[in-house]
Amino acid sequence: MDLQHRDREWWRDGVIYQIYPRSFADSNGDGIGDLAGITARLDHLNDGTPASLGIDAVWLSPFYPSPMADFGYDVADYTDVHPIFGTLADFDRLLTAAHSRGIRVIIDLVPNHTSDRHPWFVESRFSRDSPKRDWYVWADSKPDGGPPNNWMSAFPPAGRAWTFDQGTGQWYLHSFLPEQPDLNWWNPEVRRAMDEVMRFWLDRGVDGFRIDVAHRMAKDPELRDNPLVELGGDDDAAGEARAIRLARLGLDQLYDEDWPEVHQILRRFRHTLDAYQQRMAVGEVYLLDLRKLARYYGSGRDELHLAHNFVFLHQPWKPEAFRSVVDEYESLLPADAWPAYFLGNHDHPRVPSRYDEAGNGMARARVAAMMVLTLRCTPFLYYGEEIGMSDGGVPSERVVDVDGRDPERTPMQWDSSPGAGFTTGEPWLPVAPGAQRVNVAAERDDPASMLSLYRRLIWYRRGSVALRRGSYRSLPDGPTGLYAYLREAPGVERLLVALNFSGDPVEWPSRSDLPPDGHLELSTDPSRRPGPVSLAGLAIGPEEGVVVRLT
Ligand code: GLC
Ligand code: CA
Repeated sequence: MDLQHRDREWWRDGVIYQIYPRSFADSNGDGIGDLAGITARLDHLNDGTPASLGIDAVWLSPFYPSPMADFGYDVADYTDVHPIFGTLADFDRLLTAAHSRGIRVIIDLVPNHTSDRHPWFVESRFSRDSPKRDWYVWADSKPDGGPPNNWMSAFPPAGRAWTFDQGTGQWYLHSFLPEQPDLNWWNPEVRRAMDEVMRFWLDRGVDGFRIDVAHRMAKDPELRDNPLVELGGDDDAAGEARAIRLARLGLDQLYDEDWPEVHQILRRFRHTLDAYQQRMAVGEVYLLDLRKLARYYGSGRDELHLAHNFVFLHQPWKPEAFRSVVDEYESLLPADAWPAYFLGNHDHPRVPSRYDEAGNGMARARVAAMMVLTLRCTPFLYYGEEIGMSDGGVPSERVVDVDGRDPERTPMQWDSSPGAGFTTGEPWLPVAPGAQRVNVAAERDDPASMLSLYRRLIWYRRGSVALRRGSYRSLPDGPTGLYAYLREAPGVERLLVALNFSGDPVEWPSRSDLPPDGHLELSTDPSRRPGPVSLAGLAIGPEEGVVVRLT
């Protein structure tokens, strides 16, 4: 591939930062983040200098008109902005302001389901003869009067994936809440309608889409029962994560996700995107099976540009766990496909909380940051991660999410004021404890802060061909406690990344396959200065990660 083509593939080179609009910045004091708030904070993300974070693109979670049963993932109008977030003009201003800073903007496309208030569903539900009846998945009761099959909602509190509609005497499918009816992707009109939605935003200038539950759009047209789970048999790390999820559901999701036709739909999405320049799609492919995940890249660049790897996110804090996922995935991905790793989003507990064991969560989060930003991948960061935000304590009377995800959605912490600089009003979720210390203003000029570490890592990555595009090779025979790998751009640069996952210091052994000397480029330990080092015997502190340039 020629370099020019390669240079157009910004989604491989860049770091992508997820913004949950409700929680990022509130411009009008109503306690809810909005588009104008995001625009006003773009300099934090990238002002063109290393004083800013230096990300290349943002992914905005949904800001469309919505009854907010699932905080915007229940879309009532795909081509407008919810008044609480602003207007289409605010969106255009955000897009222009971002682009003028070299920040690309990708938005959340939610094609699997709409809100039950979407006019399409209102019409579909109205009568069995409605022209939109077949746009959703309607089915008769079983002979015993029960739902059409045993499929379950992904949200345990929602129970079954079917709701009976009294008016028309049939059930409709909802993979999530009853307020989120699934579209029927077997219907060609649905496919055409979603093409139009994509073009609406692409014409406006968005750089791509994050595709919500990309693995779920197609399901068994015969609506067969999912088989009951048989546990056991899997002993790999991915198998472990999968088993946990299966145990929660009790069913093997053979028929309601990852149905082969989904690849046809994604090829169609790709075709729509390819009519424009430099646009991309990253899929939320929540399949805890690396083999299946790898298929979402298609063959010959005809499906997703990137697929979020949830197996990686689900690993326990063990170096061999991450190493085996990365190594296995590297071997499974089609040639030319590119991984997308991340350690947090709006559906998962934050890293410093999730991996904390007796107070070491923050130290581990620093190592995790180095890992995500030095692996061969497009790293995705979640707002607040760059300052080391932990999960917020959300008292029971303030709980608003159906699935326990409020703690990872608390307001962005900009400063130590009562509203954390997020709002002058009462925030929709309480500001997390610790915001007094953990905030952008307090960390900006502190070289030991998490923010300084993220800035160093991101700007280093921007300048490093090996990190952005180089090859990856793990060094599995190193000291225990370490995950170590080489990133190499032949003839240009060779980097060793060594991450100490343990609470004990480790010494790098002398190895005949590596040069004896190097240059320490980065450490998660702020007291450690860059400079020449000899590799053999190099001390790596407890929960320390280092990047060494091999000379
Ligand atoms: C995805 C979103 C999640 C949402 C669900 C239903 O998993 O990330 O937040 O609840 O889809 O749209
Ligand atoms: Ca607001």
